[in-house]
Amino acid sequence: MALFKSSTRSIPNVDDVPRHVAIIMDGNGRWATSRMLPRVAGHAKGVDTVREVVEACASRGVQFLTLFAFSSENWRRPADEVSMLMRLFVSALEREVDKLARNGIRLKVVGDLQAFEPRLRELIAAGVEKTAGNDGLTLTIAANYGGRWDVLQAMRALLEKRPELAANPEAIGEDELAGHLAMAYAPEPDLFIRTGGEQRISNFLLWQLAYTELYFTDKFWPDFDAQALEQAFESFRMRERRFGQTSAQVAASS
Ligand code: FPP
Repeated sequence: MALFKSSTRSIPNVDDVPRHVAIIMDGNGRWATSRMLPRVAGHAKGVDTVREVVEACASRGVQFLTLFAFSSENWRRPADEVSMLMRLFVSALEREVDKLARNGIRLKVVGDLQAFEPRLRELIAAGVEKTAGNDGLTLTIAANYGGRWDVLQAMRALLEKRPELAANPEAIGEDELAGHLAMAYAPEPDLFIRTGGEQRISNFLLWQLAYTELYFTDKFWPDFDAQALEQAFESFRMRERRFGQTSAQVAASS
């Protein structure tokens, strides 16, 4: 069963600060090429932004921060860029996990990790284990993740656990399926941010973004910072979250 209420099955509580922020960190390559640097320099600078945004979210009381670091489709990139990205993940884990652990941050990684090299998988497992008892911000890195992959693996996991459901599909409800999604431990995102100017979801958390507020900024990810995050929060505060209700109903219930 899902731990949190589904936005399509009940009306979630709404706070000024988003409880869960999900970010597509786009624009690293363009940031670098606009400075005549190799694309990987943009990814390296992007790691600094990750650090700043994690700290800002923790200090603002955000409970879940989910970052799209590598999509199922990113394998289509040139091999040298993919391998540089992998090296960056390895070095970020080597350098940052102790700091996460000290600061009460719980690390999670979602996605099809089997495709990663053993060293990276070991570091991920060690980082997740080391921070598992922390109760501050939950930082989820989506790596080799795709929203469609997630819905499929959830359905497969559900049917594997309860094979009798295959003969009785009417008995499958949203909650059963949602409880098997890779991020069943988190509420649905309140705020989705995409940097880099594109306005699309790119196969990120397809199921969970049903009623998420979407925020797009032209800033490239390496230029995004705590102040830019505050602007996104400001925009979030101005939204009227109706979850299918009318404005009058929302006003009456608040
Ligand atoms: C998209 O920019 C970014 C990525 C595919 C990789 C994101 C990775 C990081 C920010 C670094 C590592 C992260 C962690 C969590 C350690 P792009 O390359 O598509 O930019 P472009 O659209 O300008 O080409």
